[in-house]
Amino acid sequence: MAGIGRKTDTWGSRFGFIMAAVGSSVGLGNFWRFPFTAGENGGGAFIIIYLACVLFLGLTVLMAEYAIGRKSGMSAIEGIHSLSRAEGKSSNWGAVGWIGSLAAFFILTFYIVISAWVIEFIPQALSGSFQGFAEEAAKQTAAAQAADPNAAAITIADVSTQNFVKSIGDKILVGAFLIAFIVVNVFIVARGVKGGIERAATILMPAFFVLLIGIVGFALVKGDAAAAADFLLRPDFSEVGFGTFLAAVGQAFFSLSVGSCLMITYGAYLSRDTNIPRASGIIAGADTLVALIAGFAIFPIVFAFGADPAGGPGLFFISLPIAFGAMGDLGIYVGSAFFLLALFAALTSSISLMEVAVSWLEERQGVTRPGAAIGIGFVLFMIGMGYVFSGAFIDFADFVTGNVMLPLCALLVAVFAGWVMSRHMFESELGEGNVMNIWRFMVRWVVPPALGFILVFGTLDSLQGFGLQLPGFLTALLGPNVVAG
Ligand code: TRP
Repeated sequence: MAGIGRKTDTWGSRFGFIMAAVGSSVGLGNFWRFPFTAGENGGGAFIIIYLACVLFLGLTVLMAEYAIGRKSGMSAIEGIHSLSRAEGKSSNWGAVGWIGSLAAFFILTFYIVISAWVIEFIPQALSGSFQGFAEEAAKQTAAAQAADPNAAAITIADVSTQNFVKSIGDKILVGAFLIAFIVVNVFIVARGVKGGIERAATILMPAFFVLLIGIVGFALVKGDAAAAADFLLRPDFSEVGFGTFLAAVGQAFFSLSVGSCLMITYGAYLSRDTNIPRASGIIAGADTLVALIAGFAIFPIVFAFGADPAGGPGLFFISLPIAFGAMGDLGIYVGSAFFLLALFAALTSSISLMEVAVSWLEERQGVTRPGAAIGIGFVLFMIGMGYVFSGAFIDFADFVTGNVMLPLCALLVAVFAGWVMSRHMFESELGEGNVMNIWRFMVRWVVPPALGFILVFGTLDSLQGFGLQLPGFLTALLGPNVVAG
């Protein structure tokens, strides 16, 4: 039996930990979820709210999670449980870990599907099929206008959209890649933290970063940089509603990997000589930088080729192929390398999502690590296939897990760290100086009320977008700023 108790495995080095944590944070959330969420929520104003959420809410909760993890030396559920016992508080607080862990698990169920889409685009990039978009658009336009001289021209963006829809509609192929992706995850997680997760992240993250910068360069030169800057940097607050705030909080937490208690588990492997506030700052900074860079890689192309910025989850898979196609032969190399590295970035995140469930099974149920990894892999396969074959529900699952469960868990973590635990409990983790004072103020007085408010009103507002009818007084209260789900 693996035994309940402090983790004995630790990160190999401080750099390795930072890379694994950055690897967890930087993933599909940055280059797939961030651009389409920003696009659906109007761009600039959303981004400002998003940055505020990272700085004031995300960072505070991130530090709380690391502090709880290192202090207890255990994974999410057990860690919270043991600290509340040490303070003589109700052991029901362990339930917080449950909400977070379930959120991580359900995020993983669709995360692997999007990752399978990414895999599917690698052979497409390699075979040069994006290079044929312009010709295909001309052909379709000619055909349409032969039938009706007044027919609108078919654009490259239309062709890329068709390509995306066709790609994710190929259920057998997506299913096969889904299985492949799950197998790799199981294999890495089964090998443990140091040998698997840390090693993979240390090699892959820097390479990804370099390639992303290269693509931004291209997008700024060849795309419509002015329109993108206008969209991303000029805030228009007239469209902002409670739903926008919820989307921003959800995106911030999803992207930082905060609010699932995962970082409690990662904190448990953290050595004493790591400075938690500094590490949190580096991780949040790197994650935010990658999201912004991804925005500047994707939107110039969106505007130059007339794609729809509010086009939803397909945005990444529609706009980038256009860019790679426009690069000529170079696009074959850049495109395939990019989707490959995007896959690696997704992998370093998915293994962290998987670590939550696996470390719990290992610790609590006395299952061996490989056994736990294989079992979870099997359940993931069942649910993932459900998404692939139904072709639906990802939007809603993404909303419930990312925008509701993560903020809810984060709210409870903040109340736990700020109000249930005493200050001296975390002095060994966060010091006794100004950083501690500011953190404690934020975690007590800022995070819980802000999150509580945004959760209640934002959820109601967003559910209207999913078609829920609210009583009239609530609709009046929420005002006209209803975002379309
Ligand atoms: N942050 C990752 C991304 O942006 C996804 C992720 C990994 C995550 N671990 C998490 C999200 C834990 C929420 C909770 O792709």
